Amino acid sequence: MSLFNRQSVIELLQSPRDELFARADLVRADVMGDAVYLRGIVEFSNICANDCVYCGIRKSNRNPKRYRIDSTEIMDVAHRMQASGQTTIVLQSGEVATPKEDERIATIVRRIKAETSLAVTLSCGNRPRDTYAYWREAGMDRYLLRFETSDPDLFASLHPDCSLEDRLQCLRDLRSVGAQVGSGFMIGVPGETLEILADNILLCRDFDLDMIGIGPFIAHPDTPLAGQLNAYADDPDMYFAAVAALRIVNPDAHIPATTAFDAIWPHAGRDLVLQRGANVFMPNATPGKYRKSYMLYPDKPCVDEEDHLCAGCASARIWSIGRMIGTGPGHSIKHR
Ligand code: 5AD
Ligand code: FES
Repeated sequence: MSLFNRQSVIELLQSPRDELFARADLVRADVMGDAVYLRGIVEFSNICANDCVYCGIRKSNRNPKRYRIDSTEIMDVAHRMQASGQTTIVLQSGEVATPKEDERIATIVRRIKAETSLAVTLSCGNRPRDTYAYWREAGMDRYLLRFETSDPDLFASLHPDCSLEDRLQCLRDLRSVGAQVGSGFMIGVPGETLEILADNILLCRDFDLDMIGIGPFIAHPDTPLAGQLNAYADDPDMYFAAVAALRIVNPDAHIPATTAFDAIWPHAGRDLVLQRGANVFMPNATPGKYRKSYMLYPDKPCVDEEDHLCAGCASARIWSIGRMIGTGPGHSIKHR
């Protein structure tokens, strides 16, 4: 049992960076091994009913061209992922909680499970437990839903449409329907303190998450947070320190090297994260023509690329740092 508390996590975050990064990499190697799992992500719709103040596809932003990829095109991607040896498909979208949308999602999950051997992860926002149970029955293996921040007041100021307690209840519901649960948070949203960052890391441990994705906040120009600086703008190594501390406090969780790191350090950020605690890479698998319309934050990489390229490029990056590609589904290693 881990004995970390807020103070000791803050001490980790403030400890000499070289030692912290080396320790996190050692824990990752020991507990998770050298394999890096690929989880190709298909951003199948940018239509969203919510107005999260940081997000580029919030409903009040008139700029992105709204799209929804149909099931034929999603299946085409799924088959190509399978043919290229990938083992997980992640389907992500804006939040549209209508019965019709819930049903469409269930239908596509059923089809992917029937026609491929891919593990299916959904990431479509808050829903009642019944909907999660329905998707689970359709074949959903995992779900990603970040809690974004552990501070209830900060959460409320960022999310006009939901409370932290609602979000955490979703995570409990997902666990109770038997899904592997992924969550996480943004690093350095304006107003975040080191105490909050430490609590974010501890909340991941409290929920015993199977997967934990964290990435730096990046201000989007078409949102109410336009022009706001990341809370650690003067110490960007804190973004990596957060991942390293996250690994040390959550040794047996899957931790992806998230895309936002590449927005800040093009072609390098995610590689460094893999060497400082992470063991998962999520190549963009969205068909190229939609990518410019799914800009959650500016400078998102790979928007000019075609879908099949990202997994190949990811593999090359993984080999180049002396790691290998994970085979098999890469399920949670936690035993429940
Ligand atoms: N900066 C960084 N991350 C963001 N996300 C959304 N908007 C931003 C932003 N401006 C992250 C959120 C969300 C995930 C899909 O993308 O954490 O959960
Ligand atoms: Fe997408 Fe390199 S990771 S093109």
